[in-house]
Amino acid sequence: MRILFIGDIVGGSGRRAVKTLLPELKRKYDPAFIVANGENSAGGRGITAQIAKELYDQGVHGITMGNHTWDNKDIFNFIDEDERMIRPANYPPGTPGKGVAVLRNASGKELVIVNTMGRTFLPPLDCPFQTIDGILDKLKKKHKFIFVDFHAEATSEKIAMGWHLDGKVSAVVGTHTHVQTHDERVLPKGTGYVTDVGMTGARDGVLGMERDAVLQKFKTQLPVRFTADEGKWMFHAVVVDLDNDTGFTKKIELIRRFETEAVFE
Ligand SMILES: [Fe+2]
Ligand SMILES: [Fe+2]
Repeated sequence: MRILFIGDIVGGSGRRAVKTLLPELKRKYDPAFIVANGENSAGGRGITAQIAKELYDQGVHGITMGNHTWDNKDIFNFIDEDERMIRPANYPPGTPGKGVAVLRNASGKELVIVNTMGRTFLPPLDCPFQTIDGILDKLKKKHKFIFVDFHAEATSEKIAMGWHLDGKVSAVVGTHTHVQTHDERVLPKGTGYVTDVGMTGARDGVLGMERDAVLQKFKTQLPVRFTADEGKWMFHAVVVDLDNDTGFTKKIELIRRFETEAVFE
């Protein structure tokens, strides 16, 4: 079973990238499931019901989130009803939405998506390691295909999570840093892993945001409001092939495309 996971979609540029590339990606890879991180899809901050609908209409089966989950207040209007929207599972009990979802595609196949968030250089949520252990205790008896988006800042925490989950889930992919890492691999016990998928958004900004404002912030240390850069896009994703018998990863392949270059060979 093949999964296409798209890294943090940032603003209008990121959404244009997805809209432009998805038809070709579907033809080329024929994924059973398409999952995307959408925490920055509304102008860099959060997501709206309209944007989520656009992504679902384009063939995205599930949307994961992160530390920007609550930035756009529209989320509170639909997160509890949206079965395909997955926010970090280690928010305190009682937080709106859910951190685990069982996605079903048109052929009736099932894929569990879990989203958790790191605690290093990010808000102090519940322990992501204990949280995911609790989730797996409940899931493992029933589900073979479990895909984890670990949304974290520190590469060390992400690599540690990869080792923690090796042999326990199908794959662990990192999001949040917006820069694709070149360390994709299948871990010894069969779990596919990459530290960060990379973002899908404007190439010439800073992590998808307009660069002049970010530069001003760094140079002056004064409060500056960032806006999403709407320039030419880059697209980052990962394709993971899961063994239908074991649920573990057979192959993991990074994807990177630029609007300004030939998109496909
Ligand atoms: Fe992000
Ligand atoms: Fe993030």
